[in-house]
Amino acid sequence: MITISIHHRSHLYLDMCPKRAATPFDATTAAEPKPAAPSAHVATELESSASASRTELSSFVAPANKEYTDIPATQRTWRITGSGEPAKVLKLSNDTPVSSKLKKGEVLVRVQAAALNPVGYTLMDLLPGFVLRRIHAAEYDLAGVVVNGNDTAFKTGDEVFGWIPPNQFISNNQGALAEYTRLPAENLAHRPSNVSVTQASGFSVAGLAAYQALTDIGRLKAGQALFINGGSTAVGSFAIMIAKALGARVAVSASSRNEAYVRELGADEFFDYTKSPLHEQLAAANPTPKYDVFLEATGALDPTLFVKSPAYLARRGVFVSVGPQGSGLGNYASFAWNVFLRPSFMGGTNRKWKLLSVKPDSEDSLEFARMVEEGKIRPLVDSVFAFEDTLKAYERLMSKRATGKVVVKVDPAVE
Ligand SMILES: NC(=O)c1ccc[n+]([C@@H]2O[C@H](COP(=O)([O-])OP(=O)(O)OC[C@H]3O[C@@H](n4cnc5c(N)ncnc54)[C@H](OP(=O)(O)O)[C@@H]3O)[C@@H](O)[C@H]2O)c1
Repeated sequence: MITISIHHRSHLYLDMCPKRAATPFDATTAAEPKPAAPSAHVATELESSASASRTELSSFVAPANKEYTDIPATQRTWRITGSGEPAKVLKLSNDTPVSSKLKKGEVLVRVQAAALNPVGYTLMDLLPGFVLRRIHAAEYDLAGVVVNGNDTAFKTGDEVFGWIPPNQFISNNQGALAEYTRLPAENLAHRPSNVSVTQASGFSVAGLAAYQALTDIGRLKAGQALFINGGSTAVGSFAIMIAKALGARVAVSASSRNEAYVRELGADEFFDYTKSPLHEQLAAANPTPKYDVFLEATGALDPTLFVKSPAYLARRGVFVSVGPQGSGLGNYASFAWNVFLRPSFMGGTNRKWKLLSVKPDSEDSLEFARMVEEGKIRPLVDSVFAFEDTLKAYERLMSKRATGKVVVKVDPAVE
């Protein structure tokens, strides 16, 4: 069945998932359904490598969760077959092994939905093929059900959201576009009861990034002023809501088509970055007092917003960047010169520049979930795609026009 309905704020909500009856496992009871039928996109070259480990894996018994001995030996995942764009290198495999051994502190999760992030396709293009081919599934953000709590704070049947940071993605070979994934318990939190699986799947990377940018790095306080470059990015949108919950004044940039969206999230002031250079608009606005924190949430490699920031960022303010991204050695050299190297007597900028690098932190996840439960943070979903349509989901993300998370349903039955 294909349903197309209008999602919040006029976004098309794409639901191309065939509806099926709930299984006992969906109700978080005993048995796991058999792996889904093969799809037309099967990457057969991956299957033979996985089948060798079937015998060993089929003897898997989850120690503390005997009711889950039916966990299959193999599963469907989107695997990365080399270095390049998702459309070229991502293949659906029906025969990826399910992790049979959990390290201390790790849990096994049945993934119900995964959310895509720019870092997913960026690393797919940057990392060498031999590293990527070892990884069992692409992507980082997920929501699902714990099927082996492995003596951690989580028990079988717990509904969770969480993520696998890129370093663990590489070292543990686990990813989110999979039916099952193994990850440290500290990367997870219980899913707030007022949000669905698809809504929670995109909380971790963008949501925690926004939270850590404003609290750990920006130290934003009630009564202070924040500027967000990219208020309609997922990071920027979560940051608007968190900043308002902290009691700050928030100004943002976005294109005019997203003005209503960012204002609805809580933005007090709006700048259309498409009209004229943003640094000129900000200098002309002469904010008084100046911003205490400037969050650059688009990944801009152009250093101009930082270089010109004394006109609008307080003397003791901090410029937080999600990380410059782009191409061209010259552009990176210009960035390094202007941001890190140029001394003030040669026109260097007398402001603090800090790089955000989101990290798993169970206290931050708990606090984020609490704010969701209290209605201070609402979920941001741009669109939802069926597992088989993952490449279409990447197209949507890579358009750079999404407002909210682009989500893939791993279990077609979930909302
Ligand atoms: N360092 C970290 O730990 C960390 C963690 C998470 C994300 N990130 C990075 O943060 C950035 C944002 O990620 P995301 O997932 O939030 O992005 P996203 O949601 O995919 O961003 C899409 C949005 O970007 C807006 N946009 C595009 N170009 C813009 C510009 N020049 N100025 C203002 N807005 C613009 C678009 O709005 P319009 O259509 O209105 O232009 C669209 O709404 C990425 O670079 C990502 O890699 C870093």
